[in-house]
Amino acid sequence: MGGNSNVKLIDDNGIRIDGRRVDELRNLKIEAGVLKRADGSAYVELGKNKVLAAVYGPRECHPRHMQNPAKAIIQCKYNMIAFSVGDRKRPGPDRRSVEISKIISEAFEYVVFTENYPRTSIDIYIEVLQANAGTRCAGLTAASVALADAGIPMKDLVPSVAVGKVNDQVVLDLQKEEDNFGQADVPMAMIPRTGEVLLLQMDGHLTRVQFDRAMELAVPALHQIYAAQKDALARRYAVEQSDEPEDPATSEPQEG
Ligand code: CDP
Repeated sequence: MGGNSNVKLIDDNGIRIDGRRVDELRNLKIEAGVLKRADGSAYVELGKNKVLAAVYGPRECHPRHMQNPAKAIIQCKYNMIAFSVGDRKRPGPDRRSVEISKIISEAFEYVVFTENYPRTSIDIYIEVLQANAGTRCAGLTAASVALADAGIPMKDLVPSVAVGKVNDQVVLDLQKEEDNFGQADVPMAMIPRTGEVLLLQMDGHLTRVQFDRAMELAVPALHQIYAAQKDALARRYAVEQSDEPEDPATSEPQEG
């Protein structure tokens, strides 16, 4: 968050540098079930962000001392691959990816019916292939579809988007330049069915009035993302039905 409001990011007609209005989401594409080996998976493009999520489990939790006899634990690993950002990203975990993994795990602990699967682990892998600000939101959106694709019972799907402030105006879904030179970045996630806020982070400052405006922009956008998540799952299962005679598990080349 540069906080440099001298950089002009919105023109006099209210148009942002990528041509969007302040209340406009970037192009969103969601595909469910893109990986064969994972129990559930999804691919999300949000503008120039490209994110893959894979879910394994519920499976026996190792090491065993981490097992919870009352419920499943959720372990998310968010990772940016080396070529996902402008400068080569040094491989391996850093403070930022540890933080993002933690907040995403905690968000899903609240929506997944973890008490149905004691002693197990539900593992979520988020790989950022290309980053352009908002990757934690794209990752959460993808992970939620991957969990549903894995057949894991949850209260609801979880759409996520960031709202921010640039040139003293509240705008939806910051892209990279707006994130770099803007004054605030507020990623959020919601349970659409109940309206509960599952994630809310704030880098920078908003006044109370600006925060209300941020919610005003975020809520319809979250519902739009939610519709796209449901549509991706519907398409995934429509394909599966028409493919029924050919079971992917048996159509693979046999060894020996
Ligand atoms: O991606 P998100 O907005 O959730 O997280 P952030 O920490 O606010 O990062 C904003 C953006 O900075 C990322 O999406 C990347 O485009 C960029 N970034 C980078 O270029 N190199 C890093 N090591 C980390 C982030």
